Amino acid sequence: MDINKMTVYQIYPKSFADTNGDGIGDIQGIIKKLPYIVELGVDCIWLTPIYKSPGKDNGYDVAHYTEIDPVYGTMDDFDQLVALCEDLGIIIMLDMVFNHTSSEHMWFKKALAGEQKYKDYYIFEPPKKDGSEPTNWISKFGGNAWEKVGDEYYLHLFDVSQPDLNWKNENLRKEIYAVVNFWLDKGIRGFRFDVINLISKPHIYEDDLTGDGRRFYTDGPHIHTYLKELNSNTFGNYDCVTVGEMSSTTIENCIKYSNPKENELHLVFNFHHLKVDYVDGQKWTKAPFDFLALKNLLHTWQVQMQIGGGSQAVFLCNHDQPRSVSRFGCDGAYHKKSAKMLATAIHLMKGTPFIYQGEEIGMTNAGFTSIDDYRDVESINYYNILKDEGKQEEEILDILAQKSRDNARTPMQWDNTANAGFTTKTPWISPAKNYETINTQAALADNDSIFNHYKKLVQLRKENDIISLGTYAPAYEDSSDVFAYTRKYNGEGILVVCNFYEKETEVTILDGNLTYEDVLISNYGDIVLSDGKIQLRAYEALAIKIR
Ligand code: GLC
Ligand code: CA
Repeated sequence: MDINKMTVYQIYPKSFADTNGDGIGDIQGIIKKLPYIVELGVDCIWLTPIYKSPGKDNGYDVAHYTEIDPVYGTMDDFDQLVALCEDLGIIIMLDMVFNHTSSEHMWFKKALAGEQKYKDYYIFEPPKKDGSEPTNWISKFGGNAWEKVGDEYYLHLFDVSQPDLNWKNENLRKEIYAVVNFWLDKGIRGFRFDVINLISKPHIYEDDLTGDGRRFYTDGPHIHTYLKELNSNTFGNYDCVTVGEMSSTTIENCIKYSNPKENELHLVFNFHHLKVDYVDGQKWTKAPFDFLALKNLLHTWQVQMQIGGGSQAVFLCNHDQPRSVSRFGCDGAYHKKSAKMLATAIHLMKGTPFIYQGEEIGMTNAGFTSIDDYRDVESINYYNILKDEGKQEEEILDILAQKSRDNARTPMQWDNTANAGFTTKTPWISPAKNYETINTQAALADNDSIFNHYKKLVQLRKENDIISLGTYAPAYEDSSDVFAYTRKYNGEGILVVCNFYEKETEVTILDGNLTYEDVLISNYGDIVLSDGKIQLRAYEALAIKIR
């Protein structure tokens, strides 16, 4: 499997396509839309969790790892999808959630019933002397990370309904390997491991006097050992692609996670570049994004991962992030231009690009104006927390409109009919209002669409070793509006230049040896050169061959 030539398409099944009119996307919906995915040309589809789940965190609270949730269909539907994808040469990547289970998982139920074997699958600790929580750690979804049951507490780094698993327990680890092997036996050759760098907890549980506790369990003490063990007991024996979601991680660790010599994973996601619109590191704030920080983080990770021999998943959006065109581009007058610019910036980098459903047609933030529009557990928890802190309703809704994960979870916009063609009945979450103009039907009918730009980028990566293998180097690092880099391979190269703003700008031609006959891809179609400079129009992006 050549991960450098591959592009992955992320499907959030709940919001993709509903075929039975219950307002929730399903496996048959994915099957129905396979021709669309083939048209885009991607090699792999990542499905966020479709396992049996109470759905408090839309499937990231797994109640049974080897059963399909009835809301998505049956195992027969899934097998049908697997067979069809195999015929099409599309790899299915499944989402594996092993930091925690749902509190509805049989293991946790047995643990609560007092069965020691299963208590040891989770993290139960006695209270402090004064009866309070074992530590002051803060859950990622708000509030203390410990929940009291009887006279003990269990750890939940996410929602209270998502108890953390105890990876120190070898029996638990074996259960996990059995789960991965179950899916391998079904022919699955792609895995995305959810918040996998949080699984190794510290030896002792102590208060964090300077932070929220994450420094004790992020990239924890045995993380690399666990991943090597996971690899050798499961997917390491197959031709697979795996990607680990790495929360608040470091480059040094990510190199280890993804350098083939380490036998851990193939790719890593990191999120530092998506925190550039946080105020003082806090997500639930509102601010414009810091372009120089974004640029610097993208360059630094590309360069350092290259030096260390690691591999990155490159992306701007997923089901946990606001829509990239609303966040880093312009979802008004320059919608098309800026969406293509962002795609160009990401897809010509070193690594494996990921497209999040709808990104390829420039889907925007949801535009919700009432708390009743929201469904996401994190957003609703923080709505209440911000209320308790005394913030006004209007300000909170403003923050949610910019930061909520539901921005990316509105129904896929297929056409301009009711509910964007996603369902014939009431969708579980409302679509964004702009589906009448932004939809796949319109995109497929337009040669100049964002979709066609993505399609071209996917093809370019397959056809050009410069893109899949070339060395990455930042360019025009001092520019305050242009993000640019070169890729070089076997004496050939490309220069990628992206104007992140509406304002026109220019860059001085890199050196005397550039040839401009060959524009590889551009969102304007031509190139404006004058006085030894490339003139860049609003949100202009281009890739040109250099020598
Ligand atoms: C990851 C998932 C997110 C989920 C969380 C807890 O960050 O991407 O959607 O809520 O893990 O499983
Ligand atoms: Ca359905």
